[in-house]
Amino acid sequence: MTETAKPFLQVLSGQALDTPPVWLMRQAGRYLSEYREVRAKAENFVQFCLSPDLATEVTLQPIRRFGFDASILFADILLIPIALGRKVWFVTGEGPKLEPFDPLNFESLLEGRSTEVLGNVGETVRRVSASLPDHVTMIGFAGSPWTVATYMVEGGGSKDRFKTRVSAWEHPEAFDAFMDRIADATIDYLEMQYQAGAECLKLFDSWAEGLPRPLFERVIIRPTKRIVDGLRARGVDCPVIGFPRGASTLYPFYAEATGITGMALDTGVDPAWMRSQLPEGFPVQGHLDPSALRAGGTALDSEVRRLRAAWSGHPHIFNLGHGITPDVPVSHVEQLLHLIRDGDV
Ligand code: CP3
Repeated sequence: MTETAKPFLQVLSGQALDTPPVWLMRQAGRYLSEYREVRAKAENFVQFCLSPDLATEVTLQPIRRFGFDASILFADILLIPIALGRKVWFVTGEGPKLEPFDPLNFESLLEGRSTEVLGNVGETVRRVSASLPDHVTMIGFAGSPWTVATYMVEGGGSKDRFKTRVSAWEHPEAFDAFMDRIADATIDYLEMQYQAGAECLKLFDSWAEGLPRPLFERVIIRPTKRIVDGLRARGVDCPVIGFPRGASTLYPFYAEATGITGMALDTGVDPAWMRSQLPEGFPVQGHLDPSALRAGGTALDSEVRRLRAAWSGHPHIFNLGHGITPDVPVSHVEQLLHLIRDGDV
């Protein structure tokens, strides 16, 4: 099978397919017993991400079990702060923890280390790419600078990223320089993944929500464009998917202003409105509610039908609007795949 015959890449080149390609965010995860088994072998979550043996195995597990159309590298968006010289650890049940960082100190962040510190991630991409079935596309990824910055400044997850937003308003020059440091480390990291065999790159901006337009322009649009332009300048010519989760009415601005190839949509997006706003044939991915997948039954049936009908005739990759939750029964994923691959629209 040639590269362009992969359904996932066909959609990103602008083709609408009758049966959309499908994969799920966090498809390697705790809802799979085989994942939990491997996870138990790792010393901690960061070591898990940086072990080519373990990370390759869990990346391939959902492909073996479900035959998804795309495989996403198993890693985490919070590896970049480690390359920048910050400490990151994960507390079970609480999520990621970091030492809170003041953007005024941006000059203390270490530069030019991501391919060295995160070189094992490149090795994982190389191994996964070499073992994927022909129809499956290999996706590499990173967090977008704003989302990574929120974890660095707040010291972990937070309700409304308030400290980070205050800092962005209060010290615009230092804050923008801080974002550039994260963006530049990310360009090196993504270029490494591309060289190792990634055929598509995805930028996760999970906390793009609730930003006024001037801030959205500074912290979402500008750094995303910097990454896309930086990758293109280095000859990285694969599609790039952007996921500005919660961008709401600013999604079309993101599609038009960043240079990305396709856009991942969240659960709150109304497909009819989005279709009317996007450039003709602009590829989209998404955006089933993870709670409908958890619920299963007729709710899942009707949501899958609604989304397929809404995006029919448009280049669309089927996915969730956010990551799969650990409590999803495997049978619900099978039901979803059956509805997409064998069901009527
Ligand atoms: O999608 C995939 O299967 C690829 C792997 C992947 C992980 N994290 C593995 C992971 C990807 C693409 C991510 C991205 C990520 N990480 C994001 C952006 C996407 C999103 O969900 O909004 C964010 C914000 C993070 C930061 C992060 N990592 C958090 C908040 C947590 C804790 C949440 C939780 O579910 O516990 C993590 C840990 C994490 N990253 C897990 C996995 C499978 C769960 C940890 C475990 O298995 O012990």
